[in-house]
Amino acid sequence: MLNRIGIIGGGNIGGVIVQEIVKRRLSRSIGLVDVKPPDMAMGKCLDIAEGIPVINADITINGSKSYEVIRDAQIVINTAGVPRTVRPDGSIPTREELLSKNLQITDTVAEAICSYCPDAIVISVANPLDAIVFRLFQRLNIPKNRLIGMAGVLDSARYRYFVAEAAGVSVENVSAMVLGGHGNTMVPVRSCCQIAGIPVEELLPGDLLDRIEERVRNAGAEVVGLMGTGSAFVSPAWSAVEMIESIVFDKKKILPCCVLLESEYGVNGYFVGVPVILGANGVEKIIEIRLTGAEKQAFDRSVDAVKKTVEEVKKAISC
Ligand code: NAI
Ligand code: 2OP
Repeated sequence: MLNRIGIIGGGNIGGVIVQEIVKRRLSRSIGLVDVKPPDMAMGKCLDIAEGIPVINADITINGSKSYEVIRDAQIVINTAGVPRTVRPDGSIPTREELLSKNLQITDTVAEAICSYCPDAIVISVANPLDAIVFRLFQRLNIPKNRLIGMAGVLDSARYRYFVAEAAGVSVENVSAMVLGGHGNTMVPVRSCCQIAGIPVEELLPGDLLDRIEERVRNAGAEVVGLMGTGSAFVSPAWSAVEMIESIVFDKKKILPCCVLLESEYGVNGYFVGVPVILGANGVEKIIEIRLTGAEKQAFDRSVDAVKKTVEEVKKAISC
C-alpha cells in the first residue's frame, strides 16, 4: 500500500480509477484534481468517501480544483483531456484530432506534477496517447523509468476478449499483446497470442483472426459510436489500475506500455508501446521480442504514425 496516489482529471476514467484504488486498497490517501466547476472533484470524492464505511476501507480521499491535493503523491495518473465523441454529423474524430486541445491541458498538468510531486511515477492516459506522453517527457524532465503511457494494456485486453469470445474459452486462457502507437496503426501481435499456451493460429482460422485484429484497431471508435458521447472509460481505468498494482506490489508484470525507446526496436527518442517489466521502480526493463517480418513492418508503420503526431507537438509549441 502506498501513502498517496494522485489522479489528475476526475472525469469518466479518473472517477473509476479512484473507485478501484479504494476497493483494492492500493493507497492510504488519494488526491483527485479536476478543473470542472463548481468543484466536481470534491463532489466525486465526497460521494466515494461517504461510501467507504460500507466497504470498510479506511482511506482518505481528497478532491479539489487545486493541484495541491496531489502533493507528495508517489504515483500520479494523468487522465486530464477531452475524449473522443461523436460529431453532430455522425463522424468520429481520430485520437490525433484531440491534440491541440489536449496539449494545452498537458502543459498545465506537467507544471502541477513538477510543483507538487516531482518524484512520482507518472502514468498518462490522455489522448493522443503517445504524443501526450512525449510532451510530458519534454516538460517533466524525469528519468524515463518514471513516465509510462497506458494504452497497450487496454488494446491487449480488447484483443484477448475478442479471441476468447471467438474461441468460446475463458478470457483467463488468452494471452495477447498489442504493440506500437495507440492509433489505428496499432499492432495486434498474432505470433504472441496464445490460448492456454497454444498458438492462436492452431485454434482459430486466419480470416477470423484478421477480422478480430481489425476490430481491435477500431475498438475505441466502436465504443464511441455506440455511446454517442465520450469514449470507453471502465476498461481504460481498469487497465491503468493493472499498471498501478504492478508498481505498488512490485509485481514485475510484463505489460505492453508506452515508454521511451532509445534504440530498442530500432527506434530512438519516441514513446511507443512495447512489452516492459513494471515494478516498484516503474519501467524496470524493456523486453525486445522477435516479431515476424509482417509484424515488424506493421510496427514500423505504427512508429511512423507516432512520429508524425510528435512532429505536430514540436510544431504546435516550440519547446
Ligand atoms: P472526461 O471528459 O470524462 O474527463 C476528463 C477530465 O479532465 C474532465 O473532467 C476535465 O474537467 C478534466 N480536465 C481538463 N483539463 C484539466 C486540467 N487542466 N486539470 C485537471 N483536470 C482537467 O474524459 P475521459 O473519458 O475520462 O478521458 C480522458 C482522456 O483519456 C481523454 O483524452 C481520452 O481520449 C483518453 N483516453 C485514453 C485511452 C487510452 O487507452 N490511453 C482510452 C480512453 C480514453
Ligand atoms: C480508446 O481506445 C478512445 O483511446 C480511446 O477507447
